[in-house]
Amino acid sequence: MKILVTGGAGFIGSNFLNYMVPKYQQHLFVNLDALTYAGNLENLKSIEAAGNYVFVKGSINDQPLMNKIFVDHQIDRVVHFAAESHVDRSITGPAVFVETNVLGTQVLLDSARQHWLEAKKLKNHRFLHVSTDEVFGSLGATGYFSETTPYAPNSPYSASKASSDMLVRAYHHTFGLDICITNCSNNYGPYQFPEKLIPLMIANAIDRKDLPIYGDGKNVRDWLYVLDHCKAIEKVLFEGRSGETYCIGGNNEQQNIQIIDLLCGMIDEKLGRSGEQVTERLKKYVTDRKGHDKRYAIDATKIKRELGWEPETNFAEGIRKTVDWYMGNQDWVNRLRDGVYQEYYEKQYGLVGKRVSGQTSE
Ligand code: NAD
Ligand code: DAU
Repeated sequence: MKILVTGGAGFIGSNFLNYMVPKYQQHLFVNLDALTYAGNLENLKSIEAAGNYVFVKGSINDQPLMNKIFVDHQIDRVVHFAAESHVDRSITGPAVFVETNVLGTQVLLDSARQHWLEAKKLKNHRFLHVSTDEVFGSLGATGYFSETTPYAPNSPYSASKASSDMLVRAYHHTFGLDICITNCSNNYGPYQFPEKLIPLMIANAIDRKDLPIYGDGKNVRDWLYVLDHCKAIEKVLFEGRSGETYCIGGNNEQQNIQIIDLLCGMIDEKLGRSGEQVTERLKKYVTDRKGHDKRYAIDATKIKRELGWEPETNFAEGIRKTVDWYMGNQDWVNRLRDGVYQEYYEKQYGLVGKRVSGQTSE
């Protein structure tokens, strides 16, 4: 098979390629990435010389380029990760979220449709759209999101992902494209950009910077180790039923404050901090995120029942691996924080979204 992976230089995409390329040497993986602030080829060092791996720099919004990739590489399957992914940035600058997540997905779907349906290259095709549990909105104290939960996105990010899910669904119903959609909960692990909660807290704790806690810190997320998400995508790509949606989650609900306290203790232990020096003292309650969803939690019964997938990494093990990775790769973090992101936004979109780290304190 020839598999087009979009956004393969980002957090989940690079973990996916680092896992799949050595495992499936009979398949070709074409990584198409625009290398925005979030895309980093350093993440892919271990596979860059592999014979079954090709990198193309470009945007999913570029229709002629997308058409060329489908024809040149005779693409059979797409795993579509490419997106703007950070909720805070969607609040300070929503336009690029619509451009990339909605319009870019439609451009990619059109290339797939032209190549697979109009040119009758039907054999083996599949468009796997990687989406999020945020499309379902926010839960109260009880209950779970599942494949039948109505969509109720609350942020510009989740609204753009919900729109892209709807387009993917429509290309299946209108044109007969073979599609699957996955809606996954919060991922954590190596190579996550240090703007997201876990890597931001680790990096700030190491550097003795404030640990910004939005609101009361009691919002709940369902955390999944990134490699487990990659293995779920592998299952859906090869064994999922056409036209179906699969919810993916870690069965691992944590309040933000529980995670932050856990990380503070781990960093203290690793760096031998005690007394006045303890990391906990860096905690700072800041203004809440606008429209902050209270709780996400996934019921992943369907993917377990149909495809035999369930998470393999428990939180204690996953968070230990993650902290170890960030402590061993501080240069990686520092290079990102040194301004790649600002340069990109300044060039492309003016000064939108200038923060690297979380909300500034009040
Ligand atoms: P990320 O921000 O780390 O990576 C996004 C990648 O997409 C980057 O490499 C970036 O360069 C690339 N990209 C952006 N615009 C592009 C364009 N126009 N053309 C080509 N490439 C472009 O994101 P992530 O956290 O790895 O998320 C990947 C996907 O998974 C996203 O679609 C996201 O919505 C979804 N998702 C993420 C999580 C999570 O917890 N991180 C959970 C569920 C679903
Ligand atoms: O649920 C899946 C989604 O998870 C993905 O679709 C998104 O791409 C991904 O970014 C993530 O979204 P969240 O908004 O849940 O993740 P984030 O790491 O930004 O925030 C996690 C929680 O931590 C959230 O309740 C906000 C809070 N937070 C975050 C930051 C960055 C803080 O309290 N302080 C912070 O500095």
